[in-house]
Amino acid sequence: MKKRLMLIMLMISIILNVVLVYKFFYQGEKVTVKKDSRSEIKMTKENREFVMAEMRGFLESVQKINEGIIKNDPNIIVNVSQQSGTCKVNAVPQGLVRSLPYEFKQMGFQTHELFDVMSKMAKEKYDRQQIQVKMNELLNNCVACHKTYKITAEP
Ligand code: HEC
Repeated sequence: MKKRLMLIMLMISIILNVVLVYKFFYQGEKVTVKKDSRSEIKMTKENREFVMAEMRGFLESVQKINEGIIKNDPNIIVNVSQQSGTCKVNAVPQGLVRSLPYEFKQMGFQTHELFDVMSKMAKEKYDRQQIQVKMNELLNNCVACHKTYKITAEP
């Protein structure tokens, strides 16, 4: 009799587990992407790749600046103008320039310029707190543009 009860308990436990595992792995909430209000910029795949590579360079430069701040070492910050400064603007393909809205170009240029400014600050009159203030200005630029635009590659 006791053995039978154990068996029933075991069966119930197994069924419960199967149900829970099923619920956990297969019945997730459907993820719905909230409709986003960003403006869409269309360009060729190659140009999108170009912009995204530039963006990854931006992120690397931001990391460098932050490292410089943490280690209180301006030498780490000096080179960001080479990676992300206005010198990069000349390398932008003409077709790409044409596909960009005016505000995007403006924000983009300002961002390149800020990297130059920060590099210069680090070289000439390094002040940890002022670099941080500039860094915040810079990050506000990243945020503002990301809120406003997305880029899709034309098929
Ligand atoms: C002038 C507009 C603009 C500015 C300024 C800007 N971004 Fe972007 N960034 C974009 C757009 C547009 C995308 C693509 C977003 C999309 O299509 O969903 C992007 C994508 C990225 C990506 C993803 C790259 C990849 O390979 O997918 C990174 C990283 C990034 N940005 C970093 C930054 C950082 C860091 C800054 C500031 C230093 C910055 N961006 C400033 C417009 C901008």
